[in-house]
Amino acid sequence: MNNRKGILLAGGTGTRLDPVTRVVSKHLLPVYDKPMVYYPLSVLMLADIREVLIITTPEDRPRYESLLGSGESWGVRFDYMTQDRPEGIAHALILAEPWLEGSSSALVLGDNIFFGNGLGSRLRTACAQSDGATVFAYPVADPSRFGVVQLDVDGRPVALEEKPDRPHSNLAVTGLYFFDADAPAIASKIEPSHRGELEITEVNRAYLEQGRLHVEQLGRGDAWLDTGTHETLLQASMFVETIESRQGLKIACPEEIAWRRGWINDEAFSRLADDMAGSSYGDYLIALMREQGQIAG
Ligand code: DAU
Repeated sequence: MNNRKGILLAGGTGTRLDPVTRVVSKHLLPVYDKPMVYYPLSVLMLADIREVLIITTPEDRPRYESLLGSGESWGVRFDYMTQDRPEGIAHALILAEPWLEGSSSALVLGDNIFFGNGLGSRLRTACAQSDGATVFAYPVADPSRFGVVQLDVDGRPVALEEKPDRPHSNLAVTGLYFFDADAPAIASKIEPSHRGELEITEVNRAYLEQGRLHVEQLGRGDAWLDTGTHETLLQASMFVETIESRQGLKIACPEEIAWRRGWINDEAFSRLADDMAGSSYGDYLIALMREQGQIAG
């Protein structure tokens, strides 16, 4: 088992999706066939992380607890914490500090969706890096909406900016960050930005200044999808539907990941499948068992 712990940040106001998010947390909205939060959770699980702190708003916490529970049925452990106000992504590191107990962490934003060939093994490689921070850069058409990283000719980071008016590159920093144990102390020292938030870009910049920021590039064959607007949320659903219908394989199915990684046995997997029988999601799990010859065809 990995001793890096995961933090999933699923708070915030979600006002950009009003009125859809007026009474439902953005991260519980469906992205095609599953709640949005399954996608970043699957990323942590693919990175081999089995202890995850889920940070939500106080109002939404009971809904996350009833959806995800203790994690036991997926062979993982979920703990919950609340963020009273959206004080920034880096604030999550300060909140999580006592829970981390000095461990390194992987912080993922609850609205980030990743897909790509060999993603799991690339995540596990990043996870195994013990010193400094690792972030992922992804080319986008509209970098001004994101944290942006500039690389030198050897692919080493030289500058970072948060939502620059005139970006120096087209490389967005995605919402997945691997940090060593120093991150909470670094986050405690930064000042709120003009938008009143503790910016994660400032934490990454501190690592950059120490020469301890690693940047992994995601490329043309990878998808990093946005769910920040009504259009991009719909596009994300359509993307997932297109791939899943074509391949007959699901993207970000935590039950399948837990089973394939051997965290739950056939019997436990079968119970999860039976609980959802009648939905196409449950039928998919049952079909997986059948293909493996675990249940009679
Ligand atoms: O998605 C990647 C981008 O995420 C990065 O490129 C940027 O550097 C980073 O600042 C962030 O930018 P956004 O402006 O898109 O972050 P946003 O405020 O939309 O929050 C991202 C997620 O984190 C969202 O699901 C809500 C959650 N969140 C955010 C804040 C500020 C919280 O749970 N608590 C918070 O305090």
